[in-house]
Amino acid sequence: MKHLLKLADLSREEILSVLNLADQLKYERKNGVDQSSYLRGKKLGMIFQKSSTRTRVSFEVGMYELGGYPLFLSGRDLQIGRGEPVQDTARVLSRMLDAIMIRTFAQKEVEDLAAYGSIPVINGLTDYCHPCQVLADLMTIRECKGSFKGLKMCFVGDGNNMANSLMVGAVKMGMRFSIACPKGYEPDAALMDWAKQNGSFEMYEDPEAAAKDADVLYTDVWASMGQEEEQAIRAKAFARIHIDDAVMRAAKPDAMLLHCLPVHRGEEVTAEIFEAHAKEIFEEAENRLHAQKAVLVKVLKGEN
Ligand code: CP
Ligand code: NVA
Repeated sequence: MKHLLKLADLSREEILSVLNLADQLKYERKNGVDQSSYLRGKKLGMIFQKSSTRTRVSFEVGMYELGGYPLFLSGRDLQIGRGEPVQDTARVLSRMLDAIMIRTFAQKEVEDLAAYGSIPVINGLTDYCHPCQVLADLMTIRECKGSFKGLKMCFVGDGNNMANSLMVGAVKMGMRFSIACPKGYEPDAALMDWAKQNGSFEMYEDPEAAAKDADVLYTDVWASMGQEEEQAIRAKAFARIHIDDAVMRAAKPDAMLLHCLPVHRGEEVTAEIFEAHAKEIFEEAENRLHAQKAVLVKVLKGEN
């Protein structure tokens, strides 16, 4: 794997290979195996133009545990924040580091970093997608359900970065995918076309209809990072787009609930339902560490 710019770039086999390695790394860590020879001496730059808890900590701790060195680079401190072009940053960092993880706004910035640099680039979230999160989500689903066979995933919320990546991940793994979102807040049009052609994709405005017989329910905030001023207008548009008891009843009785976090209790999901599913949601959060370590090993060793 050369880069991880978006999930659509990976084949089903490549995704499964990342998930298998993530399972192995999780098992090793739980059994006290020293993992420091995987990436001994490798240096990872982590550029953050947006806030982060899980992504930063999973990559930073992951790199440390694999024997490498993580370097936190805040967008506020880098010259990028003062207008140095990403093309130049890419060429400079390529001469000093072994890989770059970047969280930013525009997907193009991530693609440019990869195009102008000569080292692997990992997308740690853009407005368009969040592939690292979805690898951890798929890992969690397989752990809980045993396999992806015959499963239906339902996303209730904004057609945002999470919806885009979940749709791609679910279809690639052979799951049926449904979404409930208000008009005007649909996922990326080209990705929806791709999902319709390559799998089973359904869109609803009613969350109960979308959730019918779902095995996996997923939700995310109504306003993503960078959309804070739209919070009030979005709160109106999304008033019915949330996970409540009626939505849970529409899904299968043993349906799991996932959330990338951070959560806004009482908005996209009730506090009670969130807490009832805290076990799988925080396992999902832990799996960020194992999945991100697997991605680091894959790109830094150039393995598929
Ligand atoms: N889910 C996720 O990416 O969390 P952070 O924003 O805390 O990194
Ligand atoms: N959609 C959210 C995901 C956070 C992990 C955001 O972009 O803010």
